[in-house]
Amino acid sequence: MTTYSITYPPKPKADRADLPPGPPELPIVGQSFRYIRNPVGLMQEAATYGDLATMSVKPALAYLASHPDLIRQLFVDNHRSVGRGRMTLTLQYLMGMGLVTADGPLHLRQRRLMQPQFHHRRIESYGEIMTDFTLRHQQRWQDGDRIDLAAEMSELTLHVVVKTLFDLDLPDTVRRIGAAFELSNDYIKSRDNQPPAARRLFHRLPLPFTRRFKRGLAYLDATVYDLIEQRRETGLDGNDLLSLLLNVRDDEAENPEDAVMTDQQVRDEVITLFAAGHETTAVALTWTWYLLATHPDVQAGFHAELDDVIGDRAPTLDDLPNLALTDQILTESMRLYPPIWSTGRMTFEPIELDGWHIPAGAAVVAPQFIVHRDARWFEDPLEFRPDRWTPEFRENLPRFAYYPFGGGPRLCIGEGFAWMEAKLLLAVLGQRWRMRHDAGHKIELQPLVSLRPKGGMPMHLERRK
Ligand code: HEM
Repeated sequence: MTTYSITYPPKPKADRADLPPGPPELPIVGQSFRYIRNPVGLMQEAATYGDLATMSVKPALAYLASHPDLIRQLFVDNHRSVGRGRMTLTLQYLMGMGLVTADGPLHLRQRRLMQPQFHHRRIESYGEIMTDFTLRHQQRWQDGDRIDLAAEMSELTLHVVVKTLFDLDLPDTVRRIGAAFELSNDYIKSRDNQPPAARRLFHRLPLPFTRRFKRGLAYLDATVYDLIEQRRETGLDGNDLLSLLLNVRDDEAENPEDAVMTDQQVRDEVITLFAAGHETTAVALTWTWYLLATHPDVQAGFHAELDDVIGDRAPTLDDLPNLALTDQILTESMRLYPPIWSTGRMTFEPIELDGWHIPAGAAVVAPQFIVHRDARWFEDPLEFRPDRWTPEFRENLPRFAYYPFGGGPRLCIGEGFAWMEAKLLLAVLGQRWRMRHDAGHKIELQPLVSLRPKGGMPMHLERRK
């Protein structure tokens, strides 16, 4: 059996004179505390020093690339020299070595095997699940209710992902999976900003939060391995992603035993898909509803489009190409509030960016939140203006001025799934409900792995029909 292992290059030591400019730093700690307190603020300031700037977030050497050409060079031109590397060390506690965390030959193989499962014809059959679950979910809403829309979107996308991944819809099991995942997610987010040595130490000690995390993880593991066993016993003719992954055969495998994924690899991939696909879509929907609620004229146009194209029947995939304004609204919402607000790469070998030598082992951060709000590419960048997304505007926009799903060989594998889900959910709910943002609620960002609104998103519901 082939084993894939990869050694990350050591962290580089750099002489300040060799680095692009960046914000002032404190001795020893650099900008680490500022990064922990307010990562978006630090990156916004760093970007004012140039398209390539230095951030000193100890112990890493981090560069900030905030120009579309540099991001293209990083994600596309230099893709063989970079990977996720140490940037996903904490995520590995949950995901193991799935698509998000794997690099090198393992990533190449897994991407090759998994890409066909996300072909639009394969995922089309999930459209009905998305519509049905949304219809069912909103039945508990009442006219005049005040809801936490962020929690509602999270629960709804959780049910969709569990059904499409595992073909499971028992409410109690789904809730338990969601709770276990939330526990491990919270743990990862709170560890992510710690120096690696502290992180590793905490992970080994039997501290209350570490034990909670490990309990949640044990439940997720047991559930997934049980499902794998059941599938193997009862046959693999289902259309859920778990069955599809268990069915995959690698025609290029050199050894027969490598032709299928091991149970552990399948476990890592489904937990990865679960983690990467659930919260991101929920966050995208939450910000979209917030922007609609605070722009009543756009919300009215959105409702008019739904009435015109779909009327009172349930939306289907065939309707989606005709929902041009809905598409623009979602595109503009992910510009202002990219659900993954920052991504990046670690260099496995030296590369050159903007004339600067970047050594192996460095982190290069490419922050969607900053690039998407750059006045060089977007007029009135802080304004919510869905109508800016005309075909001409899209055509003239530099490729990496807008990249909510990343790009290059590591482009989000679930992009098609996410667009389909987000549009169907928006359509079903928009046919029936008007949202009014709670005026007393102040928006604050919570930039963890995804860009959640701090304290949820209180919203008043008004029934349309
Ligand atoms: C609005 C929803 C979503 C957003 C904004 C989003 C965004 C992203 C971004 C920015 C990346 C990193 C790309 C890069 O580094 O170049 C990514 C990777 C990934 N996403 Fe998504 N995603 C979403 C939904 C989904 C869904 C629904 C799934 C699965 C069902 C998914 C699965 C993945 C996986 C597996 C990767 C890693 C791909 C690789 O490295 O080969 N995502 N996503």
